[in-house]
Amino acid sequence: MERIVIIGGHGKVALHLARLLADRGDEATSVIRAAEQSSDVESAGGKPLVLDVEKADVDALAEAFSGADAVIWSAGAGGGSAERTYAVDRDAAQRAVDAASRAGVRRFVMVSWIGSTPDHGIDPDDSFYAYADAKLAADDHLRASDLDWTILGPGTLTEGEPTGRITTAPQGRAEVSRADVAAVAAAVLVQPATVGRFIRFGAGDTLIAEAVVADAGRVDGAQA
Ligand SMILES: NC(=O)c1ccc[n+]([C@@H]2O[C@H](COP(=O)([O-])OP(=O)(O)OC[C@H]3O[C@@H](n4cnc5c(N)ncnc54)[C@H](OP(=O)(O)O)[C@@H]3O)[C@@H](O)[C@H]2O)c1
Repeated sequence: MERIVIIGGHGKVALHLARLLADRGDEATSVIRAAEQSSDVESAGGKPLVLDVEKADVDALAEAFSGADAVIWSAGAGGGSAERTYAVDRDAAQRAVDAASRAGVRRFVMVSWIGSTPDHGIDPDDSFYAYADAKLAADDHLRASDLDWTILGPGTLTEGEPTGRITTAPQGRAEVSRADVAAVAAAVLVQPATVGRFIRFGAGDTLIAEAVVADAGRVDGAQA
């Protein structure tokens, strides 16, 4: 049994993930910011931990991560103001990376997005820019850490059914269901070959367990 901390535990990807981890006998602690979300987390098989990561400092986060085998970042401000996007998607994510290091949790999986590279091409005047900039800064902070990291780069998320299959070479505008993103996160946790990789993906035909290791060793990503 692995002990996994999921940050953004009431998120749509995170609830799918708690279910998958519980089904395979792992213990998921889902970090949420509102106590009333606890019952949803419990129904999914997770253990709720109420902690607002926007306010929590590195020490508080490290305490929350203590004894865990892995941390998964699946939180997000969900758009809105640039200020809150930077506060959650960049600053809190970077503190979570530092906290994992401090707590001695080696494994860290970041749910990022498919376009998270320096050449993302988003205009600074575009309202999406803060998200792209914040996610890239968080991803780069993780890459520069001493952790065993994997960065997930899904295309646009949908509410589609789980298929158990993806492609890591998506063409054009990729989409993928949140259920399949959760399955990818669960798969990389048990696949050491995914350490140090930025895995961009969309819906596809390859079994997830095979897809995540198919091009292991490939060098890609913003700073690779
Ligand atoms: N939307 C897309 O098409 C897309 C594409 C690629 C990647 N992504 C990434 O995929 C990830 C997961 O997506 P999703 O659809 O599952 O997102 P989601 O349903 O919006 O979940 C995000 C969760 O983060 C939580 N959160 C926000 N601020 C927090 C804080 N201060 N403390 C604790 N928790 C906090 C939210 O809590 P509340 O419920 O309290 O608000 C929410 O439950 C995100 O990181 C996103 O950036 C999204």
